[in-house]
Amino acid sequence: MTVNTPITEEHISFYRENGFVKIDNMLTADELELLREYLEEAMQTTSERSVQTDKQGGLYYRVLNQKVNTWRDHAGMGRFSFHERFAQSALQLAGVDKMRLFHDHGLWKMPNDSKPTPWHQDTPYWPINEAEAGMMSIWIALDDVNEQNGCMAFIPKSHKLGKLTGIDFLEPQNIFDYVEGGQLDDRKPVIVPLKAGSCTFHNGLTFHYAHANMTERPRRALAIIYMPEGITFSGASHPLTDGLNLSKNDPVKGPLFPVLAVRDA
Ligand code: SIN
Ligand code: NI
Repeated sequence: MTVNTPITEEHISFYRENGFVKIDNMLTADELELLREYLEEAMQTTSERSVQTDKQGGLYYRVLNQKVNTWRDHAGMGRFSFHERFAQSALQLAGVDKMRLFHDHGLWKMPNDSKPTPWHQDTPYWPINEAEAGMMSIWIALDDVNEQNGCMAFIPKSHKLGKLTGIDFLEPQNIFDYVEGGQLDDRKPVIVPLKAGSCTFHNGLTFHYAHANMTERPRRALAIIYMPEGITFSGASHPLTDGLNLSKNDPVKGPLFPVLAVRDA
């Protein structure tokens, strides 16, 4: 079945060269309105199925009010976290044959004493063996974002450096200290303001950062993390995989990791 996406050849070559790409108007106005409603509800839900990273008053909460796997609490979130247009766009950008859901995140950056999300790669935090190009995220803005309220920034080509170390979000190391001389010619960040309903995609290895939220309203975003078929479990303890009876090196698949997109024949 053909799924229409907004992805062009220019987007694909930009993504593969730089490790991120911006796509305007990924959501229709109606979808944006629904997603705001559903994610607001999901962020207020308490359950054992999703994972709330920190509570109000905690140190991590100053960086991010984050809920992992909102779709497990809210069926409406499933419409977005499994959205074929988003997943097919990811598949086209990465150039893989099959894309599964890995997980989703509600990512609110709260007002008051907000801290930036430090420069990091995503892949080092995941309990998987591989660091493949198809491990990637869509980051959808539910509010207009700029440098005042927590828009993202990326280091072009940093995905070519391979997997480095996970950065501590509370006492962040300088990720650039892990880059050997000459490996990254230009470290200039590209700051990416977005209109609500627009998005970026980034490779799990791309260095990225988000500004603190200096405004009086939450900065609301949804990230969906995709993985290509064949990704395997590293054996590390992680809230995403604990209790799933996965053994080290098993493929990550099963009821929580459905296939969302397949390359058109
Ligand atoms: C953020 O939303 O502040 C950070 C998102 C990310 O690290 O992917
Ligand atoms: Ni990240």
